Amino acid sequence: MRKRDYIIKGFSKLLKEDKLKIVAELMDNQVETIELLKSFWHPDRRKQKIFDEFSENTISNFYIPYGVAPNVKINGVTYLVPMVIEESSVVAAASSSAKWWLEHGGFHAEVKDVVKIGQVHFSWAGKKEKLESVWDDLTRQMREATKSITANMEKRGGGILGFELVDMTHAIENYYQIKVSFNTVDSMGANFINSCLEEFGSILKKYVQQSSVFTDEEKDLTIIMAILSNYTPDCLVKTWVECDLDELDSLDDQLSGEQFAKKFETAVKIAEVDVFRATTHNKGIFNGIDAVAIATGNDFRAIEAAGHTYASKSGQYRSLSHVEIKDGRFKFYLELPLAMGTVGGLTSLHPLAKHSLEMLGNPSAKELMMIAATVGLANNFAAVRSLVTKGIQKGHMKMHLMNILNHFNATEEEKQKAIEYFKDKKVSFAHVSEFIKELRKS
Ligand code: MEV
Repeated sequence: MRKRDYIIKGFSKLLKEDKLKIVAELMDNQVETIELLKSFWHPDRRKQKIFDEFSENTISNFYIPYGVAPNVKINGVTYLVPMVIEESSVVAAASSSAKWWLEHGGFHAEVKDVVKIGQVHFSWAGKKEKLESVWDDLTRQMREATKSITANMEKRGGGILGFELVDMTHAIENYYQIKVSFNTVDSMGANFINSCLEEFGSILKKYVQQSSVFTDEEKDLTIIMAILSNYTPDCLVKTWVECDLDELDSLDDQLSGEQFAKKFETAVKIAEVDVFRATTHNKGIFNGIDAVAIATGNDFRAIEAAGHTYASKSGQYRSLSHVEIKDGRFKFYLELPLAMGTVGGLTSLHPLAKHSLEMLGNPSAKELMMIAATVGLANNFAAVRSLVTKGIQKGHMKMHLMNILNHFNATEEEKQKAIEYFKDKKVSFAHVSEFIKELRKS
């Protein structure tokens, strides 16, 4: 990288080739830079155009592996689940959990509700009771004004569920919200919700200005913003596994099923009380959920944000999963909000997202919520299982071996030899480096 302090005007208006040239000019090796970035373009120009148009200033594609976790049995149905993730051990961990639970009753899941929330935030110094007195008429007008937007959603069984006036003046002077709940059925519904909310904002402003109920001063109302909330505590899914304690005997050579369950339970309890552990514990859950979200074209940032807020609902950030040991049974469960869609947005535009949904049998949004949550639980189970038995590094570094070998540009033959050599040895960067050096000497 040569120049860091580089201001470019009108970049977004340039042709892709010209953008590429400008980027290359910033680098020492201009020709190689262009070659590298172009080597990741899709050979089919029409397909590349789809990717270019997802975003702005696109100059190349950034590959992330697309894998599958087989044998994920949920409520009696066995799925082959697509997962997009760069971390080497995640798909392996989900698959090994899925396989183990396949033989021990499978996963169970249920969607508790699918309510989504949007807010119109406004500033107003009027008398709240007056707004309450016109509430029914105001919200009727809001419904009326958004009929063209909501008609299709209503046909599919969704739409606006309700309006609530929230007084927030205790927190910020003159600050109120209209909190609106929606059912967006199989779509994520972000555009639908935001379009409705913006319309509600203008209706509110107009209503207050035109109604004789309000004094001249009260006609002054400022819409601060209108936007959906990514916190969806009523768009909730629960997934769990359960078995007899002695079925867990096979999980470790050193621990009986009961000892394993107790140690596992303590590990989960630690994540319930300690924020440092809780963060890593939940990260392990999102390893699985995000991978499914990305593979199916869902917004993983929204999903993560909701999950972390939900994990803090008691006032302290805690584990999203929990253990129950009762009457000789082990139960491990996860409950979290998951706003996912199977129609609209990227789900149908991204060719691989579309393919992922087909691979899952074109699920409804509710079914996809159950699948993603289950993969999260499967990853969580695999991680905590490793942590309380053999430790995480052994398996992790075995998976990481390929990355280290690629770092040294190892040939296929060298890779095979390394895999054989490290079968019963601890993998570390230094050890692999030493091994490759020795191999290349001989
Ligand atoms: C690594 O990506 C995830 C883990 O750290 C999760 C955990 O510690 O529970 C293994």
